[in-house]
Amino acid sequence: MQLVKLVNVPLVERSYVIAVGENLLRDVGRTCSKLNLGPRCAIITDSKVANRYSGALEESLRLGGFEPKLITFPSGEKYKNLKVVQSIYDQLAKHRLDRKSLIVALGGGVVGDLAGFVAATYLRGISFIQVPTTLLAQVDSSVGGKVGVNLKAGKNLVGAFHQPRFVSCDTQLLKTLPLKEFRSGLAEVIKYGIIYDPGLFDQIERDMAKLLVQDTQTLTDVIARCCQIKSEVVCQDETEIGPRAILNFGHTIGHAIEAISGYGKLLHGEAISIGQVAAARLSNRLIGLMPDSVHRIENVFRAAGLPTRMKFTRAKVARVVEAMHLDKKVSGGEINFVLAEQIGKVRWGEKVPLKLMEEVLLAPEPKS
Ligand SMILES: NC(=O)c1ccc[n+]([C@@H]2O[C@H](COP(=O)([O-])OP(=O)(O)OC[C@H]3O[C@@H](n4cnc5c(N)ncnc54)[C@H](O)[C@@H]3O)[C@@H](O)[C@H]2O)c1
Ligand SMILES: [Zn+2]
Repeated sequence: MQLVKLVNVPLVERSYVIAVGENLLRDVGRTCSKLNLGPRCAIITDSKVANRYSGALEESLRLGGFEPKLITFPSGEKYKNLKVVQSIYDQLAKHRLDRKSLIVALGGGVVGDLAGFVAATYLRGISFIQVPTTLLAQVDSSVGGKVGVNLKAGKNLVGAFHQPRFVSCDTQLLKTLPLKEFRSGLAEVIKYGIIYDPGLFDQIERDMAKLLVQDTQTLTDVIARCCQIKSEVVCQDETEIGPRAILNFGHTIGHAIEAISGYGKLLHGEAISIGQVAAARLSNRLIGLMPDSVHRIENVFRAAGLPTRMKFTRAKVARVVEAMHLDKKVSGGEINFVLAEQIGKVRWGEKVPLKLMEEVLLAPEPKS
């Protein structure tokens, strides 16, 4: 029996379903045939993913009655830009995609964000679906409707909110993902446990070995739970005016660490792993997160093979603080933090005194 879990994202007329399970790629065409669209469609993907998976997806779409056109761009964050968007618009126009056409985003978060942005803007918005192929994309970037590209001035500075019509998370596709990328996705998975669900956190602690070998049942359960949590958070706050901020746990420090290390040195998941451990320690000092919980948080990131600390000097801490001020999540000069009261429960909009931040970042690693 094929293992599939369905998660609803109830956003009234923009509601959609996320399917999570094994071997779903071959069913994508059949699912899309129910969307009441015309036959023209474009698969947007990056070169690495195209090599492995575009053939199977094209075949599935043809069986579903579509005429897929494959559009690829080179893999990597630096191609998530307006130049690539422009060249894709031209190709869509050349192939006469119209308002009834479909865009299929096949790839990691870079592809999902860029293809989703193209779908949000081409002809003032056409339908798109997400076929995420990285763990990060399956649990995070493909859910929630934030799409966009980078400018020279910074990441994700141009974008839109555009919900997909359907998301298909095929766990089988993750088998070819480099282990480092998979571990990086686990940093977001652990985050959902910390911010929302102590039961999920317990399960991740217990089943880490199974997750690391990509046991299908465990992976399907955990990815579906993460999508469910993201769906609940996003539906309370579709356009990010308030409660969606809890998804940024560990990200204020994490983004600053990414910025000062030079983008690309550390994977996003590695930076937010360090960021979440620092946020847990700040939570202990400011809102009473129990020392045992701080310990469990640090250990679970370690068990996932992620870094939890960085060697900070005073100069480096000063650069982190400066980078935090430049981050767009700063309002009115104050840095807003998400802190944890306990595992599974966080508060957002917490202010952290600069001195304490320095103290926590500079503290030596405990012997364990
Ligand atoms: N929209 C959102 O809400 C949101 C949330 C989080 C992150 N993001 C964005 O997501 C992006 C990062 O996404 P990512 O981590 O998936 O990176 P990515 O898309 O660059 O993928 C990582 C690497 O893995 C390769 N790859 C992808 N799938 C593969 C597979 N199945 N097998 C082998 N190789 C594969 C890619 O070619 C790439 O080299 C960032 O641009 C970030 O801003 C967006
Ligand atoms: Zn993140």
